[in-house]
Amino acid sequence: MSTKQFDVVVIGAGPGGYIAAIRAAQLGFSVACVDAWENAKGGPAPGGTCTNVGCIPSKALLQSSEHYEHAGHAFKEHGIDVAGLSLNLGQMIKRKDTVVKQNNDGILFLFKKNKVSFFHGRASFGGAATADGYPIVVSAPANETINAKQVIIATGSNARELPGAPFDEKLILSNTGALNIDAVPAKLGVIGAGVIGLEMGSVWRRLGSEVTVLEGLPVFLGAVDEQIAKEAGKLFAKQGLSINLGCKIGKISTGKNNVTVEYENAKGEAQSAVFDKLIVSIGRTPNTNGLGADKVGLQLDERGFVAVDGDCKTNLPGVWAVGDVVRGPMLAHKAEEEGVAVAERIAGQHGHTNFNTIPWVIYTSPEIAWVGKTEQQLKAEGVAYKAGTFPFLANGRARALGDTSGMVKFLADATTDEILGVHIIGPMASELISEAVVAMEFKASAEDIARICHAHPSLSEATKEAALAVDKRTLNF
Ligand code: FAD
Ligand code: NAI
Repeated sequence: MSTKQFDVVVIGAGPGGYIAAIRAAQLGFSVACVDAWENAKGGPAPGGTCTNVGCIPSKALLQSSEHYEHAGHAFKEHGIDVAGLSLNLGQMIKRKDTVVKQNNDGILFLFKKNKVSFFHGRASFGGAATADGYPIVVSAPANETINAKQVIIATGSNARELPGAPFDEKLILSNTGALNIDAVPAKLGVIGAGVIGLEMGSVWRRLGSEVTVLEGLPVFLGAVDEQIAKEAGKLFAKQGLSINLGCKIGKISTGKNNVTVEYENAKGEAQSAVFDKLIVSIGRTPNTNGLGADKVGLQLDERGFVAVDGDCKTNLPGVWAVGDVVRGPMLAHKAEEEGVAVAERIAGQHGHTNFNTIPWVIYTSPEIAWVGKTEQQLKAEGVAYKAGTFPFLANGRARALGDTSGMVKFLADATTDEILGVHIIGPMASELISEAVVAMEFKASAEDIARICHAHPSLSEATKEAALAVDKRTLNF
């Protein structure tokens, strides 16, 4: 085992870690990034949850399954008849794996390009800081000790298990197993109607599963604007997703080829459902296992997250933490923003993350995207606001696409007209939301958007029209 000296060591090469490493290297530091993720051959697979079992593979399967569904019926309306349609699930999964590998390789390339030294292995604090900084011990295959005065922890999160129902990834699946099912389950159970439950439920429903979602809370998508969540609930039900709210999950037992879930429904009635596979998507827990936090006195909060201040500083001098392992939304782009900001703070610059303008996207069909406050939040905070909505049904491009479900909704301050929140359910909502993020970053008013020329015909005209609707002067509705 050898010892190496760096200015900055980043633990974890997910979106938070690898972006922090690249930015720190751009700023002139000598940087090491350590990541434990292994591909099927035991080689390195940087990119973290997002690249390996999260954002990227889920979007690959969402795209493939949407093509399959469209070929099955939506193409017909366009005058395209597809005869002999069949599903090659093996090829679909293989393509998803190829997309993942392209991203893994891309990160290794970026490390080389930016002169970031990559170490494959598990990192832990070896003890208190010395004059050389913190000794970070990296396990096999790297087998090194690295010293650095600045350490960025970006170790991410893991799927949360239900008590008494550990993930076996064969019958009881986390996101990892949910992205690797080898035959379409006839009956798929999903516990948790959150982002993963809806995205993965959509994938397997499109491919032919009968999907039953069991959600603990009595409300659907509580964090989403109520009007949008209501619209989403209606559309998902029409697609055939059975979403059951207010369920109290009881015993879960596995047979040879199936899983039985006992639960109480919203009326308090005892129920039992048998599924071929069960996805459990009830949130994620921060990953601090084996980090050696206790060896250096690194403070965790009561929920196990690394405790940080608004600047991502931990209680230890020179030790920072970003991404899923700290408070805030568990989103790849939030992790990236924090990673960049921390690298810049280490360089003495004023890194900045604006938590008020972090967009959220749920990649269902239609997509749901939002930024800023929901109507229910503004009501609860007693803020006087104006609302304007515009349906995609009245948008020419959406009609040409054959995808007219949903709407754009603007919420603006009643006095100043400043945009407080934008909520979209509809085609390409994930792309449309960027305009709202930019507008909010620049503290734009709804009137600003209403007066900007938008290309015709484009879905973005619905954004302009929703901004006009705030002042009750839509032109096309
Ligand atoms: P991670 O991506 O979890 O990376 C942490 C890395 O650290 C891992 O590679 C891990 O192996 C490594 N590590 C941990 N401990 C050690 C150690 N001691 N030594 C060395 N390495 C270690 N977010 C979005 O914004 N958009 C999406 O569309 C989206 N889709 C998702 C879909 C699914 C199914 C899931 C599960 C998540 C999704 N997310 C999405 C969330 C997103 O994946 C996370 O917010 C993001 O990955 C967090 O990045 P991170 O860098 O904090 O951690
Ligand atoms: P989630 O927090 O989005 O949803 C979990 C759901 O499970 C909630 O509705 C919750 O009420 C419910 N639940 C919790 N405990 C339960 C129980 N015992 N019984 C029944 N229901 C229960 O978490 P999810 O879907 O696991 O995703 C984790 C995180 O990953 C997300 O919060 C998000 O940050 C990230 N993610 C982001 C995506 C995106 O940006 N498109 C896609 C997928 C995940």
